[in-house]
Parts: sequence; structure tokens; C-alpha cells
Amino acid sequence: MQNRVPLIAGNWKMHKNCSEAESTAEELVKLVSDVKNVDIMIAPSFVSLALVNKKINGSNISLGAQNIFWEKEGAFTGEISKDMLISAGCTYVIIGHSERRQYFNETDETVNKKIKTTLASGLKPVLCIGETEQERESKKTFSVLDKQIKNGLQSFILEDLDSLSIAYEPVWAIGTGKTATKEQAQEVHNFIRSLISKEFNSKLASAMRIIYGGSVKPDNISQLMNMSDIDGALVGGASLKSETFSKIVKFK
Ligand code: PGA
Repeated sequence: MQNRVPLIAGNWKMHKNCSEAESTAEELVKLVSDVKNVDIMIAPSFVSLALVNKKINGSNISLGAQNIFWEKEGAFTGEISKDMLISAGCTYVIIGHSERRQYFNETDETVNKKIKTTLASGLKPVLCIGETEQERESKKTFSVLDKQIKNGLQSFILEDLDSLSIAYEPVWAIGTGKTATKEQAQEVHNFIRSLISKEFNSKLASAMRIIYGGSVKPDNISQLMNMSDIDGALVGGASLKSETFSKIVKFK
């Protein structure tokens, strides 16, 4: 894994009301307080961000948002700006999750705008990409990812991308209990790193964190983390219980 610090991120999706989010965060702070050399992030719903931030303040856990809008402010009912996320205590923003692409018309073009806004505001984007089962079966995995990366990162320059992480999340593995094998994940992570190297340069590619998502659990995290191009995990279902998520954070 070279010198890349692993990132283990919990995506709570549309789970937990405010008090549930607060208590989960509080428990997690205690459970992972001894963890070093791993970046830990949790992404609760928007309404819980500021509350969770108070609970994790001063701990080794960072706050992430599940989405962002690119306009600064204005008449955009239901949207959240970078300033709002910063004021709530966010450090990371998850962008282009397959559920947003699938249900909320997220496209490579909107992803591109959101990454731009996120980087310009000093927040750290986590760009999610991944193929569907059908695309994998028809051997389109690499072409789908190639397009998602090239379009998502279109018109960026090298200097922009230091804080970007990429999350490879095969759609067929999300919430299904079907994890990609470590070999399947490694093959794709290696492809992504080579593509970043070709599109930008090898220095950026070897520094960039490429994390895996899709049914990550305490019993499969270590084998994934043993692969040379897997630098962490984006965890959905298994991040909802602090005890379970803490075991993933302590993967060694
Ligand atoms: P999962 O979700 O861990 O429940 O499969 C992962 C994700 O969607 O980020």
C-alpha cells in the first residue's frame, strides 16, 4: 500500500434520526480512540451533521457529507452548499454514489461540478464509481469505469487533485452481501491507478487513495486491505453499528 494512509469511511445513507446518530457517534469515539494511522470518516444524514460533529470533536474521526450542490447559495430548495457543510464541521464529501446516480439523476457531468466545488472549498471529495452486474457480465467494467473517471475528472489539472480519493463500488456488491473477491477488487483498483497515472501522472496515481465499497464487513476487510492497491473501504450497512464498524476500522 506504499505510504498511503488508509481511509475507512462509514456511509450511513438515509439511516438514523438525530439522537440515534449522536449516540452511535459517541460510542464510536470510545471504540476507536486508540486507532492510529488510519483516517476514519463517518457520513451521517445532513440533519445530523452538526450534532455528530459535536460528539466527534477532538477525536480521531472526521465528518463527511453524502452530497453537495455546486452553487454558492440561492433559490435551490432542498440542496446543501459547501459553506453549509463547512459550518457543520465536514471534512469530506461523498460524490456520485451509485444510489444517487441510480435514483436521483446524478451524472458524470453533475459529479464533475460537485468535485470542482468540493476541491475549491478545501473539502476532500470521495468520488464513487462502479459497474452494474450487467455491465460486468458483458465485460464492460473497464470501459464504464474509464468513462466515469475521465468525465468525472474532466478539465481538472494535476495540482487540483491531491485530496481526491476514489471509491470503487461495484453496484452489484452494494447492500447485497456479495463482496467482490480480493482479486476482482485489486484488478480494478490497479486499473484505476494506471488510468490516473496515464491521465495525470504517476506521482499523483501512487499517492491517491483508492478505496473499496460493497458489502465490506469485519470478516472480509483484512483480505481486501492486504491487496496492494486497496487503500481503505467505504462501508454502508456494516457502518451503522459502532461495534461492527470499529472492527472494520481495526482491520489489521
Ligand atoms: P454496503 O454499502 O456496505 O451496505 O454494501 C456500501 C456503500 O454503498 O457505500
